[in-house]
Amino acid sequence: MVHMGYGETWAKVILMGEHSVVYGYPAVAAPLPSLKMRAWVTPAGLCATSCVGTLKALNYEGSLSGAGDRFGGLECAVKVATEFAGCPGLVFDVVTDSSFPAGRGMGSSAASAGAVIRAVLDACDVRASEQEILHLTNEAEVITHGNPSGLDAVTTCSRDVVTFQSGQIQYMRVDMPAYLVIADSGIAGSTREAVGNVRKADEKNHAYVRSVMDELGEMALASKTDLELGAVNMLGERMNRAHELLSELDVSHPLVDHLVDAARSAGAAGAKMTGGGLGGCLIALAEDADTAQSIKCALLHEGACKAWIRPLGAKSDGRFDDELVDDRRYELDNRPLIAA
Ligand code: MEV
Repeated sequence: MVHMGYGETWAKVILMGEHSVVYGYPAVAAPLPSLKMRAWVTPAGLCATSCVGTLKALNYEGSLSGAGDRFGGLECAVKVATEFAGCPGLVFDVVTDSSFPAGRGMGSSAASAGAVIRAVLDACDVRASEQEILHLTNEAEVITHGNPSGLDAVTTCSRDVVTFQSGQIQYMRVDMPAYLVIADSGIAGSTREAVGNVRKADEKNHAYVRSVMDELGEMALASKTDLELGAVNMLGERMNRAHELLSELDVSHPLVDHLVDAARSAGAAGAKMTGGGLGGCLIALAEDADTAQSIKCALLHEGACKAWIRPLGAKSDGRFDDELVDDRRYELDNRPLIAA
């Protein structure tokens, strides 16, 4: 008997290796398990043409057909999950609710696909391995992003930092006495567009783009070692260099560049854009709690519309334990953009 189902995942940030990871280079990403993506599905009959009845997600509420193609990934998530569950043709009403913004490089599309897939499997009382769920999530991500590396699908359901290369996943318990400050520029970027821009640059200037990617890949491996050794300054320097290289690939944004500078001036050991880019979020590394707080204040002052602090140490200063819990609800398209 199919019943109402629930699934959840969370946000992520990429510490090193966005874009180059699409070309098979290594990357390192950190989950943000307190910034949840939740999904509920309710069975709503049978239909040969659509697996989603009504949809409530981001700032949309209504029939899937009235939403245009912006929820194609979500529809695909329901479809592949019902097929996996052995119930093709089942229709679900879908509700998602996120405590982090979409279109800001925090993994919203992979997180929503992963949460919906888990909710459908729950509704059908079907078990799947993590590997199977990742595979289904990536099918939905192909619809949303075209050519996903798979990193977002993994990190948005991991509790540990992830190192990833060509589908190979390693989990690492990080205990670095440092803090990540994550700030949202308020500008929605398109990962599909950013990945497309890098592809065009690669076709036009292959040798140069591959040399940039070689360096990003080397820095991702070195960053893993930095995290293991607690080498805050080394990691910060690599973040600075990664931002420079990603800017050269033209996937940053002037406001993000400005906020990266502001974070450094406020004492960050390093700062960079994170995720697909063309807007979205940046991350800054702070070696102590007070510096993290100063960086967060500076970023909000300089135009960020939201900022969070994530301790990288298991037992870091308890001050920020609740920092990532945020009940504000984000809307994708009709939020005011905050310029610097
Ligand atoms: C998006 O969060 C990260 C990118 O590297 C794309 C991908 O890995 O699929 C830009």
